[in-house]
Amino acid sequence: MGSYRIAVFASGRGSNFQALVDAMANGSLGGEISVLVCDKPQAPVVERARKAGIDCFLFQPKDYASREDYEQEIAAELSKRGIDLIVLAGYMRLLTSVLVEPYSGRMINIHPSLLPSFTGKDAIGQALAYGVKMTGITVHFVDGGMDTGPVIAQHAVEILEGDDEASLSERIHTAEQQLYPEVVSWFTEGRITLNGRNVAIAAPVKR
Ligand code: GRF
Repeated sequence: MGSYRIAVFASGRGSNFQALVDAMANGSLGGEISVLVCDKPQAPVVERARKAGIDCFLFQPKDYASREDYEQEIAAELSKRGIDLIVLAGYMRLLTSVLVEPYSGRMINIHPSLLPSFTGKDAIGQALAYGVKMTGITVHFVDGGMDTGPVIAQHAVEILEGDDEASLSERIHTAEQQLYPEVVSWFTEGRITLNGRNVAIAAPVKR
């Protein structure tokens, strides 16, 4: 059996991408990041991929007539590489059925709130504005909706007296960088089963 092959999609800073790269380097990811797919060729995440020696599939949506058009090119690239899992890590675009359908059950996202609260953009700002005392992060399967797919893992982050967007974001990002590589390793170890909206995580096999 060949190695488990992962494509990461990202548009920005890439701190989650970096955490996945670091986990791959220390052997805890259990798979290989084959390619970074990025819709912003100038984004810092691209430089992180270059430094790590990971191939990049870069494109600019404005060069295409439709989302479906560029997603078809991405789909061809992924199938050429035999990708097992798509990991969205701050990819700031909604996906169409061109990618969502063939990768159903094999595409995951990380979102900075305890879903189903605070979907969409600026989830951290939304939580602060609402005044909740507890927020957090969610890793979930991607379906056709906005942050609506089955939940795989969540981690709560308390909102402290005096928190602002910067301080809360920092604690949320730290939690993300720990949780996301761990969840990806559950996939590479074949421990995840999806049953309707319910996700079961099998215990690790002792060696
Ligand atoms: C993260 O907060 C993630 O939850 C959201 O986008 C952000 C990406 O940050 N989907 P980074 O680019 O990984 O630093």
